[in-house]
Amino acid sequence: MANTFEVEDVRYSYGDISALPGVTLNVPKGRRVALLGANGSGKSTLLRLLAGLSFPASGTVRFLGDALSKERLEEEEFFYSFRRKVGVVFQNPDVQLFNASVFDELAFGPLQMGWPAQKVRERVMEMLREMRIEDLKDRAPHRLSGGEKKRVAIASVLVLDPEVLLLDEPTAALDPPSQTQIVALLASWKDTGRTVVIATHDLDALEDLADSCYLLKDGQIAGQGDPLTVLHDVTLLEEAGLVRPHRHTHGHVHVME
Ligand SMILES: Nc1ncnc2c1ncn2[C@@H]1O[C@H](COP(=O)(O)OP(=O)(O)OP(=O)(O)O)[C@@H](O)[C@H]1O
Ligand SMILES: [Mg+2]
Repeated sequence: MANTFEVEDVRYSYGDISALPGVTLNVPKGRRVALLGANGSGKSTLLRLLAGLSFPASGTVRFLGDALSKERLEEEEFFYSFRRKVGVVFQNPDVQLFNASVFDELAFGPLQMGWPAQKVRERVMEMLREMRIEDLKDRAPHRLSGGEKKRVAIASVLVLDPEVLLLDEPTAALDPPSQTQIVALLASWKDTGRTVVIATHDLDALEDLADSCYLLKDGQIAGQGDPLTVLHDVTLLEEAGLVRPHRHTHGHVHVME
């Protein structure tokens, strides 16, 4: 099977802090891959590397066979083709929203692509309905609540229907109906040819969200498999800090056998 992304022995540090001390993984074309791991395990860092927003200190990240380097992304043709194909939803929606209104936020990408005004309007209205944010259409994105911002950020990426999606905790900060809606959307993408990489803490929805998963621990792959296999591997989940330790009434915290 062809791979959309191939990550080979990638190292990345923030100054003295080694975030990824050597990661190797593949994202097969048309599959939905979840990245699981405790806070600070390197999920967002890895997504930034896949998004061509940071570059590894050593090792390679390949997108459809092309090594993603700073130099390569400085080539205009490659840059635009990569950005057209790959949509990124950040963990923090504040870094993503910069337009005066929610409508403009959704229209921005399609207008950049040179779509005719009528088509932009129709597509934006359709997306506003789908994401249940029609009532926010004229609001300033930076004055919305956290969950509203998140929904606008997701909508502003989905509006262009990219073939590859990188989603950093898309359901975090969302109320239950909005979470259910995003999970249903991801579930509906199964076997549709779309490639998805999603960082998530949502183990309950994992089977719906992903076809396979990687567990990260301290920036390294601690395990991998299909959602059911990973969810049944309690030792692995404990090691990766993904299950709640069991708390006794006498106050000590220990991990369940
Ligand atoms: N801008 C930064 N400067 C310095 N260190 C950073 C920065 N961003 C992340 N780190 C460090 O890199 C490591 C990986 O962080 P990363 O944000 O990738 O984790 P994460 O798995 O996405 O965590 P979370 O579940 O909290 O979102 C952590 O040790 C973190 O402290
Ligand atoms: Mg993160």
